[in-house]
Amino acid sequence: MTGRSMIVSVENLHKSFKDGSSCIRLFNGLSFSVYEGDFVAVTGSSGTGKTTLLNLIAGLEKPTRGSIRILGKDLSTLNSKDLAALRSCSVGMLFQSFGLVRGLTVEENIRLVQDISGKNGPTKEKYIQDLLEFFGIRDKSDFDPASLSFGEAKKVGIARALAAEPEIILLDEPTGNLDPPSVNVLLPILRGLRHIYGRTIIMTTNSLRAASIANREIHLERPTIIMD
Ligand SMILES: Nc1ncnc2c1ncn2[C@@H]1O[C@H](COP(=O)(O)OP(=O)(O)OP(=O)(O)O)[C@@H](O)[C@H]1O
Ligand SMILES: [Mg+2]
Repeated sequence: MTGRSMIVSVENLHKSFKDGSSCIRLFNGLSFSVYEGDFVAVTGSSGTGKTTLLNLIAGLEKPTRGSIRILGKDLSTLNSKDLAALRSCSVGMLFQSFGLVRGLTVEENIRLVQDISGKNGPTKEKYIQDLLEFFGIRDKSDFDPASLSFGEAKKVGIARALAAEPEIILLDEPTGNLDPPSVNVLLPILRGLRHIYGRTIIMTTNSLRAASIANREIHLERPTIIMD
């Protein structure tokens, strides 16, 4: 017994994709639970389904078989409107390709996510300023994301994932393709997220060093490929 609430529960997960004349089968009945305050590293080589797993947890894709529950809700019972509401309030996501909005400044990108969630408490402005400070990007707050370095854009992407104070944070390769000095800056920030913000984090990574800051690891095995 952990005494902590279950945030994500995955049971007997299967996901297949057709790819021309072959079919790729991911996860092979994967089951796991994530509890409040966990920091989970999802590892496995390229193509094992790390990004797909995050997309499934975010409700952006549907499993071929098996079930996913988020905060006690079975995703298969939610319509697209309910899924969007769950995502905007409870799930913060850093995409492998960031998806920052060009034409909005760094600060506006972060505020946008907070606005969409409808979480407009009295401390919301202070929270944004705290995020800019925590990630060391205050001096970039008026920049267009297009003008940032890769490492800076990653930090903005993670800050944005936190903007709505979601229960779950999904980070796809937060340290991927970064030079060692940028990784050195980012890793303590990621570690701090858990301690300072007390968040539940699921992070995919190819890096042993990044995985070592998590308190749990889910290792994905190579998929099965079936030829027609
Ligand atoms: N929408 C899709 N349609 C068809 N195939 C897909 C789709 N999404 C993912 N796949 C396939 O599923 C497999 C897993 O992809 P995924 O992007 O989840 O891997 P990954 O572990 O995140 O890899 P990487 O480390 O390179 O980011 C790949 O073979 C990919 O081509
Ligand atoms: Mg990926």
